[in-house]
Amino acid sequence: MIELRSDTFTLPTEGMREAMFTAPIGDDVFGEDESVNALETYCANLFGMEAALFCSSGTQTNQIAIKMHTKPGDEVICHELSHIYLYEGGGIAFNSGASVRLLQGDYGRFTANQAKLAINKDDVHFPSSKLISIENTINRGGGACWEFSEIVGLSDLAKSHQLKFHLDGARIFNALVAKGESASSYGKVFDSISICLSKGLGAPVGSVLIGSGADIKAARRIRKVMGGGMRQAGFLAAAGSFALKNQVERLKIDHERARFISEVLLTQSWVKEVYPVETNIIIFKLIDAIKAEDFTMHLNENNIKASSIGNNAIRFVFHLGQNEQQINQLEEVIHKFRV
Ligand SMILES: Cc1ncc(COP(=O)(O)O)c(C=O)c1O
Repeated sequence: MIELRSDTFTLPTEGMREAMFTAPIGDDVFGEDESVNALETYCANLFGMEAALFCSSGTQTNQIAIKMHTKPGDEVICHELSHIYLYEGGGIAFNSGASVRLLQGDYGRFTANQAKLAINKDDVHFPSSKLISIENTINRGGGACWEFSEIVGLSDLAKSHQLKFHLDGARIFNALVAKGESASSYGKVFDSISICLSKGLGAPVGSVLIGSGADIKAARRIRKVMGGGMRQAGFLAAAGSFALKNQVERLKIDHERARFISEVLLTQSWVKEVYPVETNIIIFKLIDAIKAEDFTMHLNENNIKASSIGNNAIRFVFHLGQNEQQINQLEEVIHKFRV
């Protein structure tokens, strides 16, 4: 079976299983799990930031960051396609009591000028603008990446208006590999960064929130209140450390495969549009004459799973759980589809 629905379906590799099995562990709520401490230190150093916190999921790291940077009545500025707004169960309102200012822009990006216009003036009528949040890579943007210069522009804007700047970096390593950028340059421009270990990096569970020492101390308290303190979490942290040390560079294979399949899709008469492919995700739209479900059924009949994401669009995600032979099989099955 070829799994294209998400890179969250990745399973631990042999080396990762071994690292998990032999991990030194302790009670992390007491700060005594060596493997968790090692992962947190590794992440903080990698991004050149002061501290890091291992959490259960990307939703949790994002939501903790939003809560840490805002209070009820504040406003978060983000893109209308952002995960923190669309797919975290209304968590911004539920956890932080904050409102949201949604921006539009190509494939999940927006400009510093758009963000500037969205910052409210200091007036009792308006929510207080407190946080700008962006995603890189952008899931609903088909894995699109930001230009680093645009990010620097947003960072400068946030600083000059005393706003915080958060990165939902669920797939930041895909962006770093695709653009040849360094994690430490990201650490210099954001107040907080959330990274996911359980997507293309292949760990079974976990995300890390990275920031200043004071912010991560506050984040640890919020995680506790949310019931997110984990005890012998080192088994999972060891998987994350293994992924960061061994499974980042190979992401370029996923990008090459996505690019290859996008070129195959572009030659099909029943494909209306393929979003530009920059990393491991392809989003493409079908012509009106066919329904997304007809195509996913054809894939299913050929042992391939993919998601339709609304608007007659399909999403394919490439990851370490696929091999070359499966990519060739996918190509054949695409060619076989008849309207
Ligand atoms: C961009 C983005 N941010 C955050 C998340 C949330 O991660 P998790 O599923 O670990 O909560 C996801 C999950 O797919 C995502 O794609």
